[in-house]
Order: sequence, then structure tokens, then C-alpha cells
Amino acid sequence: MNAAFVSRLQKELDEFKAQGVYKRLNTLTSPQGPWVEMAGRGRVLVLSSNNYLGLSADPAVMRAGMQAIERLGAGTASVRFICGTFDVHAKLESRLASFLGTDAALTYVSCWNANTGLTPTFLGDDDVINSDELNHASVIDGVRATRSGRKVYRHSDMGQLREHLQASMSARHRFIFTDGVFSMEGDLARLPDIVELARRYDAVVAVDDSHGTGVMGETGRGTPEHYGLHGQVDVITSTLGKALGGAAGGFTAGPAALCDYLTQRSRPQLFSNALPPTVAASALAAVEQIEARPELVRSLRDNTKRFRERIAEAGFKPLEGPTPIVPIIVGETALAIRMSARMLEEKVFVTGFGYPVVPQGHARIRCQISAAHTRDDLDFAITAMKKVGRELGILK
Ligand SMILES: Cc1ncc(COP(=O)(O)O)c(C=O)c1O
Repeated sequence: MNAAFVSRLQKELDEFKAQGVYKRLNTLTSPQGPWVEMAGRGRVLVLSSNNYLGLSADPAVMRAGMQAIERLGAGTASVRFICGTFDVHAKLESRLASFLGTDAALTYVSCWNANTGLTPTFLGDDDVINSDELNHASVIDGVRATRSGRKVYRHSDMGQLREHLQASMSARHRFIFTDGVFSMEGDLARLPDIVELARRYDAVVAVDDSHGTGVMGETGRGTPEHYGLHGQVDVITSTLGKALGGAAGGFTAGPAALCDYLTQRSRPQLFSNALPPTVAASALAAVEQIEARPELVRSLRDNTKRFRERIAEAGFKPLEGPTPIVPIIVGETALAIRMSARMLEEKVFVTGFGYPVVPQGHARIRCQISAAHTRDDLDFAITAMKKVGRELGILK
């Protein structure tokens, strides 16, 4: 091994530690849920998972995965077009499409792959892509890998988006790519305005709804449903790793021709294995659960409302929004990490995010609410937040 290389990495890691920005991984020894067993810590309340509907250890979701592993084995051992397409992929894709009101859907092993494999596949020199500055890293990487004109607009700044669209009327396609729910802010894209602008300037709209699918809208169909725009967004990318069972995997949903084109040309589709059958079967069961049990989305909404009210009453000023992502800005990265560590001592697992995930000076504690939390769980979290917030001078 090249000693200079390793010692450079080690030196930088030591600097992260000295600056208080080094992330330590916590190991869980029980299924994901509102409470988990954490190695060396015992039972802790989880306030930072994407298990929005509590489906990651749901009996029906787990059973579907187990049945699939028995019927179809552990892995696909292939990419889709070689010999990696199983009946469960087709079933899942058609169910996702009907759930989201699109013609078709195409799965990937992650939404990261769905996003990075989207626009580079079909946009080129003659096209212009417009991207919100706070889009998820995978959208940003996908946009950067696209050989088209690229315009980044200020977060949700519809005036600037309009200007960019106006300036690109000679392009073959204008493309707008936005998160539905912004994962670090917990706010929503201004989708009605975006769809309206797209109509006016003949643009294609793609929404990464990873934090919206199963979460937003009356029946969990996502950010478009929240705004009464179900079935009216051209392209939706999303993850199976959050509300939809929480295992892994992602997908692109949209016109049949788009999914067919991606099947032919999208690089993560052509050069990376298919979603394991067990994961596909669990995700399919998760969609079925959401459709069969509307109370899941309702509980998530009720818990979110209750937590947002209580945390404000406690004196915190979280970023506003209708989503179960409730970020509390604390400023410096080291303080966010310190708060997270103290919360864990109080048996609440809530992650602090700092630079480079969010801009310098905007570090935050990001609380995420689940339908699986009870009222007592939420009260427990708030009591601990108040205690630690006062202790660290975040709460006066
Ligand atoms: C908005 C958004 N898009 C994409 C992803 C990536 O999803 P996956 O874990 O399926 O790669 C995430 C996950 O953090 C996300 O929050």
C-alpha cells in the first residue's frame, strides 16, 4: 500500500476529529423501528430514520421478502437485460406505475442510480436542464454528468427558473429537475408553479420524490398528490429505501417510452445488477400495505402535526413545512454533532448534519417522524430535546 496516500487520509481524518465533525457509526442489533437496540447503548428511540410508515419490519413486508428468497433465491446474479429480470420486478414496476399514476416504471438498485442514470441518458448538447440548488446529491451528480446546458436556480426561486426557461427557448428540450420534498429542509417544491412554468415554456418536469412517496398526499402517492397534481408530473424518481419498506432500491416512473429508452441506454441499468428479488417483493408488499391501510399515512400526518406543535411550544424554531422532516438549525457542525451525541446519552437517536451535507454555518439536528411513533415516544423525544437544548445553550 502506498504509505504517503494512507498517511494523508489518516491526517485528514484526524483533523475531522479535532474539528468535532467526525461521524461515528452506531450499530443496531435489532430491526429498524421506533425503538431499536444499539450496541453499547441499549434501547434507544429513533428520531432519524426514513421508516416513515413503520413498514421496514412490518410482518407482511418481511414475509413477502422471505417467500421471494425461497422461491427466487438471494440474488439475480445479472443485470436486467442479460438474465436478471424476474417476474417480481415486472409486478413491482406495474404496481408502482399504477400507484403513482404513470404509464410505466423501471427499478434500479437505488434511487441514486435512478437519478444518475436519468438525464445523462437522453439529454445532450441541444438541451438545457434546470435544477434547484438544494436538490439531493444524486440529482446534482446526474445533472453534472449530463452533456447539456445546465442551469441551477436558487432554492424554489420561480422567478429565476422562469428567466432560465425563457433564455433557453431555442433548446430542443427544457428539463426541470427538482426534489419533491427537500431532504435537509423538510420543505416542498413549489410544484404547482413548476408545472405551470413547464406548460408555458414547453419543459419536461422530473421530481425526485424519495421523501414524498408514501408520505405526502392524502393516500401517500407523494408530493404531486399533495398539490392535486397526481398523474400530472412527467417523470418521478423515488426510492424503495424509505417509506416503501426501507430496504433499498429505487425507480423511475413516467411514460412507457421513457422507461423503455432507459432500459435500452441508462448506464446503471445496463452495467449494474438488478434489484434482489427479496427486496422487490418486500417493496411490492409495502405498496400493497399503503393502499390497504390508509391509516398509516394518516398516523404519520397526525404524528408530524403533533411533533411540530410540541417542538415549537418547547421553544425551538424548526424550519417550517408540512413534512415529517423537522430540521432545527443550530449553526456550527460541531454543535450539531455534540447535540446528537448528548441526545443519544438521553436515549434518543437523532442525527446532526453539518458541512459538507449542508452549507457551513447551517448545521442542524434533523428529526424525522414515523407513523410507528406513539404519542409517548414523541413526548419522550421532546423532553430530551428540551433538556439537551438548554444545556447546550440552543434553547434559552
Ligand atoms: C431526495 C433523495 N433522493 C435520492 C436518495 C437516494 O436514495 P437511495 O438510498 O435509494 O439511493 C435519497 C436518499 O438519501 C434522497 O433523500
